[in-house]
Order: sequence, then C-alpha cells, then structure tokens
Amino acid sequence: MVATINTEKDIESVEDITLLVNTFYDKIRRDELLSSVFNAIIKDWDPHLEKMIQFWSTLLLYTRTYRGDPLPSHLPLKVDKEHFDRWLSLFNQTVDELFTGKIASNAKKRAFSIARIMKAVKQIPEE
Ligand code: HEM
Repeated sequence: MVATINTEKDIESVEDITLLVNTFYDKIRRDELLSSVFNAIIKDWDPHLEKMIQFWSTLLLYTRTYRGDPLPSHLPLKVDKEHFDRWLSLFNQTVDELFTGKIASNAKKRAFSIARIMKAVKQIPEE
C-alpha cells in the first residue's frame, strides 16, 4: 500500500509549509534536469529551505516573514521553458501528494503565476 500522509488536509500552519518545502526540494535535488542548476548556486541548503518556508508562509498564511523579491536571483539563471515546466510539475505533484483544499489550490495558482512572470521577464516563450 502506498503511504498517504495528509491528503485530506489543507495547508494550515508553518509546519505544513515546512513539510511542503522540504518534500519539494527533496524532489528538486533528485531531479536530473534541475538539480545541477540549484547545486551550482546553493552550497548550503538549510538557509535556502528556511527562506522558502518564509516565502510560502508569507504568500499563503500572511506571516510576513519574507520581505525579499524572488525575481532578481532568477535573472542570471540559464533556464528555459523545460526547466519551468519541470519545476511546476514537481511543485504541483508535491502539493497534491500532501494536501487538499483552498490554500493547497492557491499554492499551485501562485506558483504558476510567479513562474509565468519569471518567464516573461526572462523572455522565455510560454509555448
Ligand atoms: C526553473 C525554475 C526555477 C529555478 C531553476 C530556480 C532556482 C533558484 C535558485 C538557484 C535560487 C537561489 C538563488 C540565490 O540564492 O542566489 C532560487 C531562489 C528562490 N526561488 Fe527559485 N527557481 C525556479 C523557480 C521559482 C519559482 C517558480 C518560484 C516562486 C513560485 C521561486 C521562488 C524562489 C524564491 C522566493 C527564492 C529566494 C529568493 C531570495 O533570495 O529572496 N523559484 N531559485
């Protein structure tokens, strides 16, 4: 039997966001396409994970713990549509594995729209 953890539950707390972020970046770090892009820049994962917990907590739970701007650090990255598609696919997969509900659905919508902005700024075509 496949283990199911929180699938009947929505994202409700910073602990939930921590589980989401840790599970998502475990997948990123095992991904053939994305791992090298991340590992070229991130040498110490703990501060990155902590920042991403703050980012998603601010977006989804209004904790105001993230005050940065995600765009500048993505401008120099050598990535194309394929990378964004994979990132979104792993993110959506992680949300769906762990949570169900309005905030879970909002997480996927926010990721999609931020990725679309990043692609537009980087002049990566949508299709
Ligand atoms: C192809 C897709 C993506 C790749 C390869 C990627 C890669 C990275 C890397 C390497 C960093 C660390 C940058 C640094 O420390 O200098 C980073 C930071 C970050 N990423 Fe992404 N990313 C992607 C998509 C996204 C998307 C779609 C979002 C938002 C939904 C996002 C949100 C963030 C945030 C909030 C940070 C921290 C920025 C800060 O320092 O304040 N990323 N990303």
